[in-house]
Amino acid sequence: MTLTPVLTKRFGTDQPWKIDNYERLDGYTGLRRALAMAPDEVISIVKDSSLRGRGGAGFPTGMKWQFIPQSKPGETPKPHYVVVNADEGEPGTCRDLPLMMNDPHSMIEGIIIACFAVRAQHAFVYIRGEAIHAIRRVTGAVREAYAKGYLGKDVLGSGLDFDITVHGGAGAYICGEETALLDSLEGKRGQPRLKPPFPATNGLYDAPTVVNNVGTLASVPYIILGGAAWYKELGPEGSPGTSIYSLSGRVKNPGQYEAPMGTTLRELLELAGGMSRGKPLKFWTPGGSSTPLFTQDHLDVPLDFDAVAKAGSMNGTSAVMIFDEGDSVVRAVLKWTQFYEHESCGKCTPCREGNYWTAQILERILHGHGTEADLDTLLDTCDNILGRSFCALGDGAVSPIASSIKYFRDDYLALIPGGASVPPALAGATV
Ligand SMILES: Cc1cc2nc3c(=O)[nH]c(=O)nc-3n(C[C@H](O)[C@H](O)[C@H](O)COP(=O)(O)O)c2cc1C
Ligand code: SF4
Repeated sequence: MTLTPVLTKRFGTDQPWKIDNYERLDGYTGLRRALAMAPDEVISIVKDSSLRGRGGAGFPTGMKWQFIPQSKPGETPKPHYVVVNADEGEPGTCRDLPLMMNDPHSMIEGIIIACFAVRAQHAFVYIRGEAIHAIRRVTGAVREAYAKGYLGKDVLGSGLDFDITVHGGAGAYICGEETALLDSLEGKRGQPRLKPPFPATNGLYDAPTVVNNVGTLASVPYIILGGAAWYKELGPEGSPGTSIYSLSGRVKNPGQYEAPMGTTLRELLELAGGMSRGKPLKFWTPGGSSTPLFTQDHLDVPLDFDAVAKAGSMNGTSAVMIFDEGDSVVRAVLKWTQFYEHESCGKCTPCREGNYWTAQILERILHGHGTEADLDTLLDTCDNILGRSFCALGDGAVSPIASSIKYFRDDYLALIPGGASVPPALAGATV
């Protein structure tokens, strides 16, 4: 298994974030090619490539673009918008920030191509507020793109105008949910909107809007240049292309590893030098803390959208957090649950109240005050959050709890007075 740098091909080169260096390495040639086509032709290429969104849900990008309604003759058209989701708040997820820091122009080029395809003139990049470095880097890159004529009036002589506004969020995980992001961008409190209507028809300022992740849009120039067939061949059927896997935790060399979709954890561990403490792997997340945990038994599951789902989890954001036999699964799950409790926006009861209670029960168990009945209460509470919450934050919050009880029930029992079958010191070990 080797790395397959596509999105990361400029990482490590001389100041890849500068527009002159970007142009030297094929930069903005995809845009020139796209502008010579009809917008629908661009959508067809993205559709044929089967690119799936990198924001977590894996929605087909070409299809999303096609949903943007075109005005009928005689209608006053509403403006269309492209909104870039650069909130990146999922625990363990760390690939949009490195992309924006190293190669902001690939995202910007992808945004302009997307604007052209869906007939939008204005795009907004919503960047997590704490990531001041990324806000500065992207703002600088946008300025360079204006100076070179890739943004502004009559871009590259096309007769079309394109503008990008960089917006710093206030730093709330829920603002990564696309409709909460739109509310936040409009200056309101960031809370999810009822769907339908979907952003494709009623998005930013109630106008047709495409919301895409940073990595999704950064993939577009490569697809326009390399062609749909080339892109499809990079990964398995159904999950084409590469993924930037973010490895963290008990691994020798944590970081971003770009490899074909469908790479297994066994292969990723080889690339990353193996486990860091010499202890065996115990549990891991295939796509961030909102995805059900995997174990040793899942080392050979291809990490792509379909295979991970078949194995009982989700590919999510390819955030692979790795824990070894010295780590406590209960403690890790408590920490994630406290995160969801804190980040719950409070709009719906199952998530607002449920995450409060699951955190309380987990804490009680971890500190040796739990009972076996608490495990049933935990699972019952999870059942009442899952599928009953207003947005996917609630569903994601229960993933680590339910999956950890499924695979590591004995670790919970070991912390419950009278229920031990694993040495309690190990079950409660520090993460
Ligand atoms: C709680 C929550 C947080 C999310 N955070 C992000 C995020 O930080 N970045 C992102 O791209 N998508 C995030 N998403 C997914 C978005 O709602 C949306 O599906 C995505 O931006 C669509 O882009 P894509 O089609 O390019 O994947 C989040 C979803 C939820 C429910
Ligand atoms: S599930 Fe409900 S309370 Fe939780 S973040 Fe979504 S809307 Fe807010």
